[in-house]
Parts: sequence; structure tokens; C-alpha cells
Amino acid sequence: MQTRRMEFVAPCHFGLEAVIRRELQGLGFSVTGTQDGRVSFAADNGPEGLVRANIHLRSAERVLLLVGRFHAVTWDELFEGIKALPWEEILPTDARFWVTKAVSVRSRLFSPSDIQRIVKKAMVERMKARSGSQVFPETGADYPLRVFLLNDEVSVCLDTTGESLHKRGYRKSNVAAPIAENLAAALLMLTPWRPDRILVDPFCGSGTFVIEAAMMAANIAPGIHRHFTAEQWENLVPPAVWKEARREAYASIDTGVQPDLQGYDIDPQAIEVAKISAREAGVEELVHLQVRDVADLHHRKKYGFILTNPPYGERLGAEDQAALTALYRTLGERYASLADWSMYVITSFPEAERAIGRKADRNRKLYNGMIETRFYQYFGAKPPRRMHASEEGSRE
Ligand SMILES: C[S@@+](CC[C@H](N)C(=O)[O-])C[C@H]1O[C@@H](n2cnc3c(N)ncnc32)[C@H](O)[C@@H]1O
Repeated sequence: MQTRRMEFVAPCHFGLEAVIRRELQGLGFSVTGTQDGRVSFAADNGPEGLVRANIHLRSAERVLLLVGRFHAVTWDELFEGIKALPWEEILPTDARFWVTKAVSVRSRLFSPSDIQRIVKKAMVERMKARSGSQVFPETGADYPLRVFLLNDEVSVCLDTTGESLHKRGYRKSNVAAPIAENLAAALLMLTPWRPDRILVDPFCGSGTFVIEAAMMAANIAPGIHRHFTAEQWENLVPPAVWKEARREAYASIDTGVQPDLQGYDIDPQAIEVAKISAREAGVEELVHLQVRDVADLHHRKKYGFILTNPPYGERLGAEDQAALTALYRTLGERYASLADWSMYVITSFPEAERAIGRKADRNRKLYNGMIETRFYQYFGAKPPRRMHASEEGSRE
């Protein structure tokens, strides 16, 4: 049981499925399917895979353990399908279990509260029949479930993660409109940026892009500092598996890297928060964070990357709209002054491209939470093949 193959589902931001697929393959998992906002994968050694996915995935929202999949168009079929699953092998008799989320898309069974109620009832029925017990105290570990119906196909999953994976544990203070850490990591992975290339975020706020980049550069696993729901599941995942995975993750940290990562913001408080977060993430020495207006953005070296999330200006008046246009114009001017740089901008400001003053080489629609945004991509020249990072710009 303890090394058996397990199947998982990783929900992610809509439109970023290819990023998580690549990440999963890089971690040695076999990807078994992709749907909008979710990627399925499998591990031959299930417990080890469960732990590795939680600790190492940068772009996923959470890791769900697939318990079963079946077809249901009536409440009876849902009840029987749930009852047919081997809950007594998965849940200890004192487990606290409930459906934390039910989602139905293009399916006949629709009401989330009815799905939640019937699933729980069917599970209790199965547990009663198999354990001989009539009452379940639910005083033990949490086993939250997520149930998805898509085209009448029911997927029943246990949430192994708990608090979303974007919570790495390093962001302790609040700032306005931070980008989610897993979205920031996914966007970084969408660009050709590599740790030996310069990265600047001129609107860095709490520093998410540069901190995520530093963690990648130093090979710091995103989940190294936090806990997960499945750590309580000693019946499914022996504590030694967590311990060994954490030990390995710590041992793999590359303390010798010297990336060129810079975050600027006009707001001193944001920079303060960014510095605290960088310290918490263990990358304080790898990032340069400073108060600076985008109007003063410059860099003497070539071939760098701007990756940024400027103010969006949701629901702004005409005056603010003009200020925002001016801000994006300044960004465009500063970018134009940087030799052979690439720029990636995520924003929902509809005038962004026009104000920047250059049509993006590519742009794609993405959701930042509920906000529809565009990810504008401006491609700069590639550095000559044999040029070492330290030599970049030396020919200016
Ligand atoms: C959407 S937030 C960026 C959030 C950031 N990605 C994070 O994860 O926290 C936009 C940031 O732009 C900053 N900003 C606004 N005007 C600026 C300017 N002229 N120069 C530099 N930063 C500016 C704001 O202070 C704010 O922190």
C-alpha cells in the first residue's frame, strides 16, 4: 500500500497548464491528462510523489490525490459511485472528513451543497458497513475532499496540500495587489530567463518576481518552509518520507549562486515588506531591493529581462487613467533605452501596449485571480552563445 502507484491532479492558473506540465515532467512524473486549469499526473511510488510534488511544484495551486473517477447523472449514481470507493483503506476511523469544495461544469448534477451532502453520506455508509462501527468521532486528522464534475464524469480527490501552494510562508506582511507566488513563478518559467541573466522588476511591490527568481536560481524548493495537510496522514505517508524529502531539498540548495536580480518600487513601505520577505525566503543576499521611480530605471549591461506587474488601475476615473497612461509611457521609454533587453508585462490596463509605444511580439490572455489580464511579451536579442554572464555589457 505504502509504495503503490497514485494518481494526482494539480489545479493551476487557467492558461498556464503547459508550464506545470513541464514542471511535472522535470520532476520525473508522468503527465496523464490536461484540462482547463488542471493537470493530472501519476507516481509509481505514490507517497514519495505526493511529498515531492507538494514541496517542489512552483506553479501549481495544490496537489490533489485522486481517489476515484466514475460517471454519474443521478444522485443515486453519485451515492453508489462514492460508496464503491475503498474509504476504509484511506481514512482512519477517527478521520475528520468533509467535501471542502464541489465544482460542476457541463454536468447534470449541479448543486454544490447537494453534492457535498450526498458524498459525505455515502462515505459514512461505506465506513459503517466495513468497520462495523456506527459512529465516527471525527477527532483525528483532517482529510478534506474536493469533488469535480465535468461532462457528468465525477473525480473524487483528497486535498493533500491545505493552504494553497502559493503560500510559500515567506510573505508575512500585506501589501496592495501582490501577485500570487505561483503565478509569478509560472510567468518566470514562461520566459526564457535563466539564473545567469539579469532580471529587473521596476514595480516590484512586495518583491514576488525577484524573490521567486532567486529561489529558482538557488534551487530552493518553494515548499521547504511550510506544512501540508497530508503531513497528518501517517496511514498513507510515513513521516520519514517527508523528513527525507526535506533533507534532500535542503541539501540541493545552491549557496554559491550570484544572480543579478533587482526589484524597485516608488513606495518605501513596499520595499520594506519585500526585504522582510526576501529574508524569510532565505534569498536576502541574492536580490537587490531599492526605492526607485520607474522614470529612473537604467542598467548599463545588455540582454537583461524586465518582468513586471505595473499598477492595473481597476475602476479608475479619467484623471487616474491619464496618470496610468503616463506611467506606462515612462516604462516604454525606459525599456527602449535598454540595449537588447526583453520585457514581459502582466496587466489588465487596456491601454498598456499603446502607452508603452510598441506592439508586443506576443501577448496572451491570463487570469490573475478573477481579473482578466494580458501578458505582453517583448523579445530582445539573445546574448552571443559563448558570452559569460560576467562579460555581458563589457562591450558597451
Ligand atoms: C500591482 S503592484 C505590484 C505588485 C507586485 N508584483 C507584488 O507581487 O507585490 C504595482 C506597484 O507599482 C508601484 N508603483 C506605482 N508607481 C510607480 C512608479 N512611478 N515607479 C515605481 N513603482 C511604482 C506601486 O507602489 C506598487 O507597489
